[in-house]
Amino acid sequence: MVMIDPSAISARDNYKLLIGSIIPRPIAFVTTLSADGVLNAAPFSFFNIVSSNPPMVSVSVQRRDGVRKDTARNAIGNGQFVVHIADESYVEQLNVTAGSFAPTESEVAAAGLTPVASERIAVPGIAEARIRLECELEHALELGGDAAAGGDPACDLLIGRVVYYHIDDALYDEHGHIDPNALQPVSRLAGHDYAKLGELFTLERPL
Ligand SMILES: Cc1cc2nc3c(=O)[nH]c(=O)nc-3n(C[C@H](O)[C@H](O)[C@H](O)COP(=O)(O)O)c2cc1C
Repeated sequence: MVMIDPSAISARDNYKLLIGSIIPRPIAFVTTLSADGVLNAAPFSFFNIVSSNPPMVSVSVQRRDGVRKDTARNAIGNGQFVVHIADESYVEQLNVTAGSFAPTESEVAAAGLTPVASERIAVPGIAEARIRLECELEHALELGGDAAAGGDPACDLLIGRVVYYHIDDALYDEHGHIDPNALQPVSRLAGHDYAKLGELFTLERPL
């Protein structure tokens, strides 16, 4: 076994160990609205369920040199965002949105994606996604970095309460289940690598 003390290695090396170990990671494709009304979009794989009662999800947005990314700034600014589950049908366009764009430029337009109005919030979603979760910001936590020493936090952890679900008919059955094969989700590994769903198997839980 290789044994490593995280405090003895750099933040970059810790990042490499985490993104290589915690795989596959689901990808949230998140839209937000800037104060000027620009529709922003970006993918985030530090993403998961927090609770089902009420339904809540988390997205961790890392800062760049202490500065909030547009997604965190917008979501904290107006308290709303839309999470889309990344799937094979639009992963190429999603990748385009992860490039560097000025806050005044819409990644959605640049990637050729189609904005669609939400039901309960002002932030539009993306029509190409098969699942959209309209979210109200429940908590935003500033974490990490050297905040204790008076420095900048390293990330903004956004916790969103899902206030509306949009699910493509082709994925949804009458019992309220979502068909994973129809969804064709993509997940993130390390570096530029992604994974598709792979082989499924069933394991009954012991009583
Ligand atoms: C598949 C994928 C997953 C990503 N996951 C994260 C993440 O979890 N946290 C993060 O801060 N950046 C992540 N990024 C990078 C952001 O998407 C990128 O910094 C983006 O430009 C941020 O956009 P914004 O400034 O409009 O918010 C990821 C990029 C890709 C391609």
